[in-house]
Amino acid sequence: MKKKLLSFLAIICSLCVMCGCATEQKDYTEESAAQAADSISVGFSQVGAESDWRSANTDSMKSSLTKENGFDLIFMDGQQKQTKQITAIRSFIQQGVDYIVLAPVCETGWDSVLDEAYEANIPVIIVDRMIQINNDNRYSCFVGSDFYLEGRKACEWLNQYATAYDIAKEDIHIVDIQGTIGSTAQIGRTKGLVESAKKYGWDIREKTSGDFTQAKGREVMAQMLRQYNNINVVYCENDNEALGAIEAIEAAGKHAGSNLKNGDILVLSFDGINETAINYALEGTIACIVECNPLHGPRVRTIIDSLERGENPDKIEYVDETLYSSVNVIKSVTVDGAKYDVTLLTQDVIDSREY
Ligand code: AHR
Repeated sequence: MKKKLLSFLAIICSLCVMCGCATEQKDYTEESAAQAADSISVGFSQVGAESDWRSANTDSMKSSLTKENGFDLIFMDGQQKQTKQITAIRSFIQQGVDYIVLAPVCETGWDSVLDEAYEANIPVIIVDRMIQINNDNRYSCFVGSDFYLEGRKACEWLNQYATAYDIAKEDIHIVDIQGTIGSTAQIGRTKGLVESAKKYGWDIREKTSGDFTQAKGREVMAQMLRQYNNINVVYCENDNEALGAIEAIEAAGKHAGSNLKNGDILVLSFDGINETAINYALEGTIACIVECNPLHGPRVRTIIDSLERGENPDKIEYVDETLYSSVNVIKSVTVDGAKYDVTLLTQDVIDSREY
């Protein structure tokens, strides 16, 4: 890309000279050519704009891969459609970018297009969610969340909560508002719930997708509340769905909170970006939020810098994430023998967060 851009700009410079353009204009063009030659071009295929998490992630990428930091970023919004993301990647390949960054909407179906990127010698960095592919060498590395771990952390919190408040396993009736079906975030969080429900003997009434949006979260929750009269836990696979579910709970004349013995519906959620959701967790309307960290921009920048130096960054990099609780009784949860602190959500905690 750098080479192509240089020759293109050199032609423009010569044309300017031939046409007798002003000297100032010529100097400016030469300077731009030099800058463009130095910058690293990155094509970023983003999932879409379905949630507050996604917007925070887009901001993080755009504010890290800037011109001032030496990047030329081409941003493409996939509008939650894999076909659009594949088209974007093909256009990045045609443009001869230096790097492709992909936040995949779903895990499968990337083989052909990533074969094409590989043949074109363009390194691919997978961000946020994972892909399943025949040849692992089709991408350089992955940075993002461990969604399966996130799901199990939420369920360990629920198990300890039930124990602390003497709620029998057969009295727990859960509905799962899943994320976009086939995305790593949905697969991991749903798997964490299904396995934990089996382990602890909880009843999962229904699993249905809310597409990670508030509107769909509200719609499916309203429908499930009409269908089942004993739901007392809603496991929302992101905060936007949780906001929609709470609207549906209130519209049905019920109360979102932690007092299950008094008829509350306990809301579990993921992300911790949306301000209303965080404030709901502060006041107890949402019982627990497992953080999903969206700040991948600086991480991708570090990876590209390291690839530029000819190094081999870690193939898989999971980010550390906090578990926020609205109640003080649960201090830590243990998953696969590893202990994770639980953070009681307070105003000070909110004020000290990076986002
Ligand atoms: O992949 C991360 C998930 O995608 C976030 O939890 C969700 O809000 C987003 O849309």
